[in-house]
Amino acid sequence: MHESGFLANGTVVRWNGPVRVKIDTELCQGHGRCYDLAAKLFGADDEGYGTVLGDGVVPPDAADDARLAVANCPEQAIELLEEE
Ligand code: F3S
Repeated sequence: MHESGFLANGTVVRWNGPVRVKIDTELCQGHGRCYDLAAKLFGADDEGYGTVLGDGVVPPDAADDARLAVANCPEQAIELLEEE
């Protein structure tokens, strides 16, 4: 568990430092909204399931995209984790 990031409805709890996106592969059903909405942060695997690009660190100019992706994933499979 993590103590900061976004609630499931996209409300910002805290955003103080670098944030990383993560996809829970057990929850992802391949809806594809993450890589449609935030192509800088997410890609798709061969079967259309979402994948995190690179190390998943969210650059400041992609923060809104990250927020959109979290809010729009129907499975709530995307997490935002604050870096220690
Ligand atoms: Fe999967 Fe959600 Fe993206 S279901 S493909 S993480 S929009």
